[in-house]
Amino acid sequence: MPPSALEKAVYGVYATTAVHLADKHGVFGYLIDREASTDKVASELGLDQDSLDRLLVLLDSFGIIERNEHGAYRIPAELAPFLDPESPRSVGGFVSHVMNSTLDRLPQLDAYLTDGKSAVDAALPAPFDVMYGTPELTGKFLEAMWQLTYDVSRELAPLAGLAGVRHLLDVGGASGPFCVAALESTPGLRATVFELPEVGPYVADTVARHQLQDRLDFVVGDFHRDEFPPTECVAFGYVLSGWTDEIGLQLLHKAYRACADGGRVLIMDRLFDHDRRGPLPTAVMNLSMHVEAKGRHRTAAEYIGLLETAGFVDCDVRRSSQDKHLVIGFKK
Ligand SMILES: C[S@@+](CC[C@H](N)C(=O)[O-])C[C@H]1O[C@@H](n2cnc3c(N)ncnc32)[C@H](O)[C@@H]1O
Repeated sequence: MPPSALEKAVYGVYATTAVHLADKHGVFGYLIDREASTDKVASELGLDQDSLDRLLVLLDSFGIIERNEHGAYRIPAELAPFLDPESPRSVGGFVSHVMNSTLDRLPQLDAYLTDGKSAVDAALPAPFDVMYGTPELTGKFLEAMWQLTYDVSRELAPLAGLAGVRHLLDVGGASGPFCVAALESTPGLRATVFELPEVGPYVADTVARHQLQDRLDFVVGDFHRDEFPPTECVAFGYVLSGWTDEIGLQLLHKAYRACADGGRVLIMDRLFDHDRRGPLPTAVMNLSMHVEAKGRHRTAAEYIGLLETAGFVDCDVRRSSQDKHLVIGFKK
């Protein structure tokens, strides 16, 4: 039997599939506040018992659920915030994105290795043409972004020290998870999401759901082509990691031009450790950025280097308790 690190790597695809299907078919939702045997779960959710049994046995072997001495399954308390579909930290939307989108693109890595990324990508549609190809795909992607971003933004917005800032521009702000967290924690702030046109209706939903008609608005823009509207604070959440240093610098120069004197830029992203040996989620998403976008993950020092090249000063790293951190820079 291979050592456990290799076992997890070899069998990981089964675990990802099982987590996705258990989430999709309501198994985690059902088990979140109760213990239940396979036949009970199967009959309550209308699932095939034999198939469900194999799924639950596998999830138990991976330590994702656990079985008590009477054969009933439950979700370990420490995993509940991540498996509860109603929780803001649910991994369901992300795993669904991996299964429905990333897995289509991951095999391209084979051709990247032999022919190089630019040669292979030249024959492919641009990433967001695919991700926003249908309203269903658009909705799923933006839901996954909300799940990844809203909860951690409730830590990041206070770390950004926005008191006294009157306007925030969230470039590539999706349906507004960071804006909402920033508005909730900062009285007197107004925010604008600068996004592709497909995202507009989802920001409108956010405005209605959170009753932010007077504080959150939407501007259609293409960050490759358009200048940014003037603001006191430009935010980039999971945006710079989607692009090369060259394009990242173009975006930061635009942010510098858009910022009022004394304004700031917020880069909110995963960070590699300084030696790039981890953490694991950053290493995973670094590969994902390669096949799903044109970017890479960086160390804090690399982001600070880009910020300083664009003219920002007093750059600082402020870490959350989760995977997404803040690198901040100021315009003198
Ligand atoms: C990885 S998502 C990040 C979403 C959000 N900022 C967050 O932290 O969760 C990247 C966002 O950039 C937007 N985007 C991609 N290309 C864009 C472009 N050319 N102009 C404006 N927004 C763009 C996408 O619509 C998407 O919402």
